[in-house]
Amino acid sequence: MVNIAVLVSGGGTNLQALMDKIQNGTVTNGKIAVVIASNDKAYAIQRAKDNNIPCKVISRKSFGSSEEFDQAMVEVCQSYHIQLVVLAGYLSMLGKQFVSAYENRILNIHPSLIPSFCGKGYYGIVPHQKALEYGVKITGATVHFIDFEYDSGPIVLQKSVEVKEDDTPETLQKRVMEQAEWEILPTAVKLFCEGKLKVAGRKVSILP
Ligand code: GRF
Repeated sequence: MVNIAVLVSGGGTNLQALMDKIQNGTVTNGKIAVVIASNDKAYAIQRAKDNNIPCKVISRKSFGSSEEFDQAMVEVCQSYHIQLVVLAGYLSMLGKQFVSAYENRILNIHPSLIPSFCGKGYYGIVPHQKALEYGVKITGATVHFIDFEYDSGPIVLQKSVEVKEDDTPETLQKRVMEQAEWEILPTAVKLFCEGKLKVAGRKVSILP
């Protein structure tokens, strides 16, 4: 059984999708051992409590340096014997120390088809605003491993979503979550937990 830490900052609908698919047996071989929130206002905390999952709040602001913050994050993950870290709407920047400790074992969900509409500042509603401004006809979501840059690590799964004529950033955000994010994040976790993801450089192969 793979011990998973899910890192959250907000509503936690991606956390919810993952918990639901573990509970209904779609995702096997994985257990959410701890949820770590970047702030105590995140509704995701309530979702973790409702599912009897231990939850910690670790705020970047309460540490003097990025190194100290990373150290605290690594220590909590080690104490839960974490083998996979899932960033599910997590908005704090993780430093070199944490990323190196969990190389190719940190998955992130991003609400666009990377390499479009991603990078520094592209979080929350922004990727959807920019997609509409640009006039793309399809957008979507991407699950990727984390490396040392924003949204730049090896891509695991992507799913496209149609942009509609009358979309607002909010309607598009909702459709991307419902049709793409809540599906591909649990699927990527399932594949990881079954040992089916092989990373070679930028390329992630999905083993049969
Ligand atoms: C999602 O759109 C995710 O892709 C992005 O932040 C949002 C988080 O939503 N990085 P939630 O907290 O999972 O509801």
